[in-house]
Parts: sequence; C-alpha cells; structure tokens
Amino acid sequence: MEKRTNFRSKLGAILAASGSAVGLGNVWRFSTEVGANGGAAFILIYVLCVLLLGLPVMVGEFIIGRHSHANTVDAYRKLAPRTGWIVQGFLGVFTGWFILSYYSVVAGWTLGYLGSSVAGRVTHIEDSAAFFSTFTSSPWWAIGCMVTVLLITHLIIVRGVQNGIERFSKLMMPMLLIIIIGLGIASLTMPGAKTGLQFLFKPDFSKITSSTVLSAMGQAFFSLSLGMGALCTYASYFSDDTRLTRAAGSVVTIDTLVAILSGFIIFPAVFSISTVAPDAGPGLVFITLPEVFKAAFADVPWLGYLFAVLFYLLLLLAALTSTISLHETATAFLHEQGIPRHRAAWIVTGVSILFGTLCALSFGLLKDLKPFFGMTFFDFFDYFSAKVLLPLGGLLISLFVGWKLDRQLVKDEITNHGRYKTPLCGLLLFLLKWFAPIAISLIFLNELGIFK
Ligand code: PHE
Repeated sequence: MEKRTNFRSKLGAILAASGSAVGLGNVWRFSTEVGANGGAAFILIYVLCVLLLGLPVMVGEFIIGRHSHANTVDAYRKLAPRTGWIVQGFLGVFTGWFILSYYSVVAGWTLGYLGSSVAGRVTHIEDSAAFFSTFTSSPWWAIGCMVTVLLITHLIIVRGVQNGIERFSKLMMPMLLIIIIGLGIASLTMPGAKTGLQFLFKPDFSKITSSTVLSAMGQAFFSLSLGMGALCTYASYFSDDTRLTRAAGSVVTIDTLVAILSGFIIFPAVFSISTVAPDAGPGLVFITLPEVFKAAFADVPWLGYLFAVLFYLLLLLAALTSTISLHETATAFLHEQGIPRHRAAWIVTGVSILFGTLCALSFGLLKDLKPFFGMTFFDFFDYFSAKVLLPLGGLLISLFVGWKLDRQLVKDEITNHGRYKTPLCGLLLFLLKWFAPIAISLIFLNELGIFK
C-alpha cells in the first residue's frame, strides 16, 4: 500500500477540519433547530454544549487520529488492540454513511436552488413555500440533485487528500465568511429585523424542556462534525507539529461564528414575511432566503441576483467540504483494508445513493411512509444520527481518551511532547474524563424520562 499522506500545511489542516465542520449544519440545521426550540435560550445551551462538550471531545478525536495516523477503525485497533473499543470505530464509519445519505439530499436542494438562482428564478419567486414544496416533492429533481452532489464528492475524494480536500477547503472557507457577513447586513435592513434579533438574543427559559437540551447537544456534535470519526480521520493527516488544542480552538470558533451569523441572516427575514413561522421545519432556510434576496435588494435587483447566486454557490461548496469528510471516513477505512481507493470510494458513493434515494423521496412519493417511530426516512436519519449516534460516539470518545488511553500519551499529544506549554491542559482533561461522560449520560437519561 502507498505511503500515507499528510496535509501540506498547518493552515491547510485547520481549514480542512473547519471545512468539515462548517456546512449545512451551521446554516440549514442550526436555524431549523433554533426555530423549533424557541430561539435565544436554545442558543445559550448550544454554546455551553460547544464549549464544555464539543471542544474537549474534538481534542480527544484529534489525539486518537494524530497518534494513530490511521482510519478511525484501525486507530482503535492500534491504540487498544484486541479490545471492544474497535466497535466505536465501526460505529463511526456507519454513522458517517448514515449522515452522508440524508445530508446529500439537502445539499442537492442547495444545488437545485443554485441552478434556479442562476436562471434568475429565485429572485422572482411569488410564493417561496410553494416553490420549495414543489421542488422537493419532485422525485426527479430531488434524486437527480442528490446523486449529482454525491458524484461531485466522489470526484474530489478520488483526487486524494492534498489536491482534493486541502486545496478545495483553503479556497472557499474565507469566501463563505465574507458572503455571510454581507447577507447578514442585508437581512438586518428588513422590517422584522428587531423581532428577529429579540428571538435570537432574548432568552425565554420557559421554552426549555429535556428535549431542548438533547437537541442542543446533538446540534453541537453535528455542527462540529464530532462523534463519528470524521475529525479523527482528518487528524490522522495532521503532521507532528500541529498544535491540537489550537487547531480545535480555531475550528470551534469558526464554526460557531458561522452558525450565529447565519442566524442574523435567517431570523430577521423570518419575522419580516408572513408566510413562514420560525418552526417551519427543514424548509425554513430555503423558504426565507429567497424573500431576503427579493425584499432587501428590491431597489437594486442585480445585487439581489448576485447575492442569491453567490450564496447558494458557497453554501453548496460548504456542504461539499462536509460531504467530503463524511465520505473520506468510510473510504479511508475501506481503502486501508486493502481495497483500491477508487473502488472503495465507489462502494461508499453507491450505498449512499441507495439510502439517499429513500431520504430524497421522503418529501414526495414516500412522504406518508413513516416506518420508524412515526418518522419519515429523512426525519429518522436526521434524528437518529444527530440525537443518538453522534452523542453516543462523543460519550465513547471521552471515555476512551479520558480513561483508557495512557495519560502520558494524551499529554504528549496535547503538548507536542513537551514542546509547548498548554495552560488549559488540566481543565481539558478534567472535562474529557469527568464532565463530558457524566453530562452526556445525564442528558440521555433525562430524555428517556428517567428523572421524571
Ligand atoms: N458538521 C457538518 C455541518 O455542520 C456536518 C457533519 C457532521 C460533517 C458530522 C461530518 C461529520 O454541516
């Protein structure tokens, strides 16, 4: 087998990891969850989950990946030979596959909206809710766009780590940030801006229930790409002088910034148009944004057109840097079992298309088929991965790094073998060893109604 590559530069490594983290989760899923869970109070719990659970678990994943320099299954095989921990590796690969399948459907919608905005239609939509439902319920569009997204991901994956993943992420992350800030400013000029900002920043604690906390935790893991081995796989391409805590700090900061900024775009718009409520579900972003492009730029339509095209283009690119990391987790695993990389990639793409089709049809042909706890395929894939599989993965990772791994190995990874002082190392290890496992378990138990 050929020699394993690393990312070329530290910046490239950080941007690739941020590319995995920043995606539809920050814009589409974040606003859907904020809307469904009552706004500011949810955001507050979300930020706490990011800092107290996400950051330490991310450092944990980085340690596992960088120390083993292997895919997520072999990482556990190397670090804890002949133990049951390998199950966590397999769980990660499975979860990545699962998420990729339904995530590609939403990425496909983004592609479809990009096409429509290039054709000038998005800025002229009469009823954006009706447009969304017509688009997503058409089997050909929904499946066609989903498959296209998976094929583009596939093409980048087969180009490898440096030329595919690293180069692509470096180019688009800064562009995305600039566009999001521009649109946020535009949205703040809309009539409902004040109500929107209140919704975002004035917490109403009566809205908090046990499921709000589970949703916030799930969203934190989802948005940071944690709990399934994507960042562990990326960290296996980190070089020995990358500082893990710094890298994790940067990824968490960028990811949270993009999520909050996207709130600035979506909610002023939600409260400015009468046809949509904050808890409108997965269509929220796709229904509100066309209204922003139309209303905020009513006097300069070409600017609305330009922003629409750029926004969907960048959202699609952001989604792609995430689908790449989901795909890479499974591809690296299959490849390192001896399957040629392009064949491994085809297996991952093929299975995802199969599952993705079920999810894509959940808004049309299969909308009434609810085989799992009254949920459609799409809703089940989303619920099960974000609220069960990822937090479970996070729990196992914190237990593994906090209790199973040799303490010295962990310290060596964090301080680059004593080369750097890491002032918060002790706190981080405490969070990883005690706080994260206890808090995640309590949130699970609470959701199951154990404390009622
Ligand atoms: N973090 C990505 C997003 O926010 C989604 C993702 C989840 C990617 C898990 C990889 C692993 O869009």
